[in-house]
Amino acid sequence: MTTSVPTIDVRNVSKRYGKIEALNDVSLQVEQGAILGMLGPNGAGKTTLVKILSSLIKPSSGYATVAGYDVAKQTRQVRSIIGLAGQSAAVDENLTGRENLVLVARLYHMSRGESRTRAGELLEQFNLVESGDRTAKTYSGGMRRRLDLAASLVARPQVLFLDEPTTGLDPRSRNDLWDVIRELVKAGTTVLLTTQYLDEADQLADRISVIDRGSLIAEGTASELKQRAGSEFIAVQAQEHDQISKTVEVMRRFSTEEPAVTEHDRRITVSVTDGSALLAGIVRELDSAGVAVTDLSMRQPTLDDVFLALTGRTAEETAEGDGEGEDGGD
Ligand SMILES: Nc1ncnc2c1ncn2[C@@H]1O[C@H](COP(=O)(O)OP(=O)(O)O)[C@@H](O)[C@H]1O
Ligand SMILES: [Mg+2]
Repeated sequence: MTTSVPTIDVRNVSKRYGKIEALNDVSLQVEQGAILGMLGPNGAGKTTLVKILSSLIKPSSGYATVAGYDVAKQTRQVRSIIGLAGQSAAVDENLTGRENLVLVARLYHMSRGESRTRAGELLEQFNLVESGDRTAKTYSGGMRRRLDLAASLVARPQVLFLDEPTTGLDPRSRNDLWDVIRELVKAGTTVLLTTQYLDEADQLADRISVIDRGSLIAEGTASELKQRAGSEFIAVQAQEHDQISKTVEVMRRFSTEEPAVTEHDRRITVSVTDGSALLAGIVRELDSAGVAVTDLSMRQPTLDDVFLALTGRTAEETAEGDGEGEDGGD
């Protein structure tokens, strides 16, 4: 393998299930040691891509390599250098955390002694030492995900696929898992992480690819994508109904992005590029216009805002419009 070949290299990959086009001409590259966030709503095709790159399913067309190995042809080599952790935790509920890890190590042909040592190291790294000898069915959601992630790391993979690693977790467990993922990347592991959450991609990924209905629709750093979503939003709530139009008029002067100003239920929102620099001016002008406001807030764009800016619809609408084709088959 030469250094000029990206560690993950996807060329025009498509995958069809009958009439469903799960992936449509997807190309992307991830350099060694980088973390790519693949952001998209339910049904976008994220898991399909991860399965193709893990050599679990074959693309209908196109070509992909991981660490130089062809994922469709060199399945044994691919599986020996990757780790895969995801929503459907590969944890055996009836075994203890430690037994789960030893089992995985044995599957990788480590000796009994090596397996126990590796299991101990991982329990330590994932803060599971105290619960390591309890059966996994007693674990909380966050502990299961940590065990699942630990299991994917037993053989020290060069490349790690994390398929929605924190979906359904509470904020605290999510933060704990983020810390672990950051450590992995520091150690040089190349990561492809899928997520439905912009903040997760934002926190972890060097670059983000946005996927929708099987196609990549945008690519860039988190801040590049946010720019496309209209940067930031400042919202004020007018105290009285008859002050709405006056408030809208003031807010419009500060608009630097589309959509300029929206009003909903006395709440007037404006898209701006540098919100914190404008706040004081907005307060001043509302005041001199004689408008009383009950609330003033600023927020960063969310996944929905990014989706709205890119596709003209919300991620929720996307998920609803994608209802057919769930056949539960894997
Ligand atoms: N085995 C399968 N058979 C038929 N359709 C499938 C299968 N796996 C996935 N799909 C469909 O492909 C699309 C993408 O699914 P998936 O990759 O699981 O999306 P995501 O992981 O982003 O939620 C969806 O419409 C899904 O219903
Ligand atoms: Mg999925």
